[in-house]
Amino acid sequence: NSNIAVAIDGPAASGKSTVAKTLAKRLGLIMVNTGAMYRAVAWATIQHGVDPADSAAVINLLDRVDFTCGVENNLSTVLVDGVDLGDALRQDAVNSRVSKVAAISEVRELLVSMQRDYLELGSVVMEGRDIGSVVFPNTPFKMYIDASEEVRRKRRAAEGIIDDPTARDKEDSKRKSSPLVIAEGAVVIDSSEMDVEQVVQAALTVLRERG
Ligand code: C5P
Repeated sequence: NSNIAVAIDGPAASGKSTVAKTLAKRLGLIMVNTGAMYRAVAWATIQHGVDPADSAAVINLLDRVDFTCGVENNLSTVLVDGVDLGDALRQDAVNSRVSKVAAISEVRELLVSMQRDYLELGSVVMEGRDIGSVVFPNTPFKMYIDASEEVRRKRRAAEGIIDDPTARDKEDSKRKSSPLVIAEGAVVIDSSEMDVEQVVQAALTVLRERG
């Protein structure tokens, strides 16, 4: 399989989704949003009244609910029991639960294997927290997109989303199973003072240098 994986990791609201989308579109690659998959599991815990911190109950839920990943217009999709949840995955109740389900290693194993399967469909730009460190550790194309806390809070506020990205980052960074880290060999891009186009250009430079 000669398909390539571009791994884009970073904290919440660092701008990595926008950059990953733009990059994928320009290069004609599939853009995979792995946060949506963890959000789908968090959403299912709400729907089934499961405590996201009760790992046994969450693991049991994985057998009772069907999570299917796909692609539409070169963007990843995730269906929960056949339903595409769209913006419901971005609601407050999901934001406040998602880091808890994402800390459960059985949840990560299931989703990581689905993430790796995308490479069978084509070359991908995949964004998340552990793409360069765990999902595709051997890809030469790894970036870690960062931004200052202040800028990240502002970006979230501008989106009109009630979310404390830094609280999630703390949980995501301290967990035992695949914490948010700068993967070995990743190029760190601090986007605090950059616009989207500048970050995209920086990412294209990394791909050219390593391609
Ligand atoms: O990227 P997004 O902010 O939508 O991710 C939501 C949550 O999903 C993160 O805060 C993190 O807990 C989890 N996540 C993860 N690993 C990934 C992507 C997301 O643990 N690769």
